[in-house]
Amino acid sequence: MSSNLENRPDDAGDYVVELQSVSRHYGDTIAVANVSLGMTRGELVCLLGPSGCGKTTTLRMVAGFVEPTSGTVRINNMDMTHLPPYRRDTGMVFQSYALFPHMTVAENIAFGLENLKWNRADRDKRVSEMLTLVELPHLAERLPAQLSGGQQQRIALARALAMRPAVLLLDEPFSNLDAQLRVRMREELREVIRGVDVTTLFVTHDQEEALTMSDRIVVMNAGRIEQIGSPGDIYESPESTFVAKFIGWCAVVEGTVDSTGNFMSKSGINLSGSWQPGSASAIVRPEQVRISSEGAFGTPAQARVVESHYYGGATRVILEVNGEHLMMHERFPFGRHPKPGEALSITLNTSEIRVVPTPGTPR
Ligand SMILES: Nc1ncnc2c1ncn2[C@@H]1O[C@H](COP(=O)(O)OP(=O)(O)O)[C@@H](O)[C@H]1O
Ligand SMILES: [Mg+2]
Repeated sequence: MSSNLENRPDDAGDYVVELQSVSRHYGDTIAVANVSLGMTRGELVCLLGPSGCGKTTTLRMVAGFVEPTSGTVRINNMDMTHLPPYRRDTGMVFQSYALFPHMTVAENIAFGLENLKWNRADRDKRVSEMLTLVELPHLAERLPAQLSGGQQQRIALARALAMRPAVLLLDEPFSNLDAQLRVRMREELREVIRGVDVTTLFVTHDQEEALTMSDRIVVMNAGRIEQIGSPGDIYESPESTFVAKFIGWCAVVEGTVDSTGNFMSKSGINLSGSWQPGSASAIVRPEQVRISSEGAFGTPAQARVVESHYYGGATRVILEVNGEHLMMHERFPFGRHPKPGEALSITLNTSEIRVVPTPGTPR
């Protein structure tokens, strides 16, 4: 016979990386406040948030370059909180590549293996595996200065993965690359990570990077976790206006949820639902706003174009409806892009609009 207690699954055992209430203070600055996070094997998790929100500090506490003021860092079920980086089974890729300039590509990749006293033959074999993995086998004898930025970053990734670490850590690894290369590199990185099945923690302030690469996104704000979820959760069900504004475009409409659970704004945007009564904000995504002639949802409203920005293909339009600003992404017929001041009739997809409580208001 077993008691309930014995049957309880050992959650901790399922995590490769586990942060338990981790904080880091610098004098009066609270860089990271009470962050808890568990990562399962092979998972790719992004820390996403504006500059200064504590992403790098969190990553460096996992790596061991920064010691937490309080809390516990566990890797492979062992308490690593006070162990030095080289004993943590992690590999790190920095924003600035940080390759050793006087060493060849092959020597860079072999560096950690050499420290572990691997013999020559095993070392060469692993280096060649890693160069194949990042698809640069012909560059083994080059020096870092003879490589492009994208190639240097691939070599930095190869070096980090050469030790087959349990955890791969990357801090804004593509921010020094141009826009097109950045998109290609994140697709490649995703492939490589899937191939070697390494648990990965990735820091970025780029929402598109986070949405396209992650299994889960951790949105941070002022040292705290604001929300954790899949890219779909975070984009479609943001729990705060902070998350909504940080991920994708949106307009925030302030209003009130009445005692029956319906939302209404002063400007007359009314949404029926069963939200918690009190002061609230509706989060209106551009794709929830449509030109009413397209036979879309709801009663048409009259809108005035405030701004119009052509993105090639689609146009982003800022609209004013009863004193409220909304945003719309539309493909307009050739030569028919709306101009500021123009009137448009629009409808809202009210069933998809999120309503969140205004922070700090009494319920
Ligand atoms: N070594 C340090 N000394 C003092 N303050 C620091 C140090 N490292 C980070 N901070 C502060 O902690 C906060 C979070 O920094 P960081 O983790 O680098 O943010 P992010 O990577 O999200 O931009 C910032 O306010 C930053 O100035
Ligand atoms: Mg940073």
